[in-house]
Amino acid sequence: MIDPFGRHISYLRVSVTDRCDFRCIYCMAEQQTFLPRAELLTLEELERLCGAFIAKGVERIRITGGEPLVRRNVIWLIERLGKRIGDGLKELTLTTNGSQLARFAAALRAAGVRRINVSLDTRDPEKFHAVTRRGDLNKVLAGIDAAQEAGLEVKINMVALRGLNEDEIVPMMEWSHGRGMDLTLIETMPMGEIDGDRVEQYLPLSVVRARLQERFALDDIDFRTGGPARYVRVRETGGRLGFITPLTHNFCESCNRVRLTCTGTLYMCLGQNDAADLRQVLRAGNDDRILSAAIDEAISRKPKGHDFIVDRRHNRPAIVRAMSLTGG
Ligand code: 5AD
Ligand code: SF4
Repeated sequence: MIDPFGRHISYLRVSVTDRCDFRCIYCMAEQQTFLPRAELLTLEELERLCGAFIAKGVERIRITGGEPLVRRNVIWLIERLGKRIGDGLKELTLTTNGSQLARFAAALRAAGVRRINVSLDTRDPEKFHAVTRRGDLNKVLAGIDAAQEAGLEVKINMVALRGLNEDEIVPMMEWSHGRGMDLTLIETMPMGEIDGDRVEQYLPLSVVRARLQERFALDDIDFRTGGPARYVRVRETGGRLGFITPLTHNFCESCNRVRLTCTGTLYMCLGQNDAADLRQVLRAGNDDRILSAAIDEAISRKPKGHDFIVDRRHNRPAIVRAMSLTGG
């Protein structure tokens, strides 16, 4: 699949649920409303759709949410997709908040998953509870232990939040690198209706990087995992540190991905509202050629780039759907 700007689309992110057991302050409202279950694709439908994308050249699939591991039986889907590794699919990965990882780590590894991303914004139990509004840090840490014990490569994703976890960036990096895990810092993106103030939460990573450079030697490296992160090697720790900077740096030129929601809506860009309804096509019949044509039509509409803006006066995001719908 090649889009109108010559970008090769080889990466599919699949959100299997919009639900989550956390309510992170930059992601959701305290009283978040979720989709009625009847709206969701079944796991069988998700498998068929993923299969159609693999047949069209998708080599990497990332399972996301919401929190993917709260979807009932999600391991069934992961096992089915895992069987496609080597048969078109090269890699199956997962992004998780870690709350259920202790239970699922071994099954993920057995299904063929080798790398996972765990979101962790703070290692202070009280702050963790405040940022996630209900998470239990110890469960997540136990999940990370279990994942490493099961032989999964773990990368930590940390959203940089002004005044909240700024002072934890260095300790988080030292802790991650000490355990053989990469750390990626993420700027808050103006997506979804939250209760708080985005502008207050926003911490540009250019600032973070400049501060880090006062204490550490950061060497740019061309390591890529297929995602938008740019990596440096930290000389003092020997570990890798990634930066995802949607607002200070435009990462669209090399975008290779599209995103499928749990209702079968395909978003061609995280930062645009245009989408294609594949559920309707899926449910209209079993002809995979029609599905394939619908995917081609969607790819032909992939825009050149995003334009995230925050409506400062009204504190409203340009993209109203939450990250938990399209899975980051
Ligand atoms: N801005 C930046 N990152 C976000 N995430 C969720 N919502 C946002 C947002 N508005 C992060 C999660 C997780 C990843 C999937 O996306 O913390 O690390
Ligand atoms: Fe859940 Fe992730 Fe959103 Fe936090 S950021 S509420 S863990 S989906």
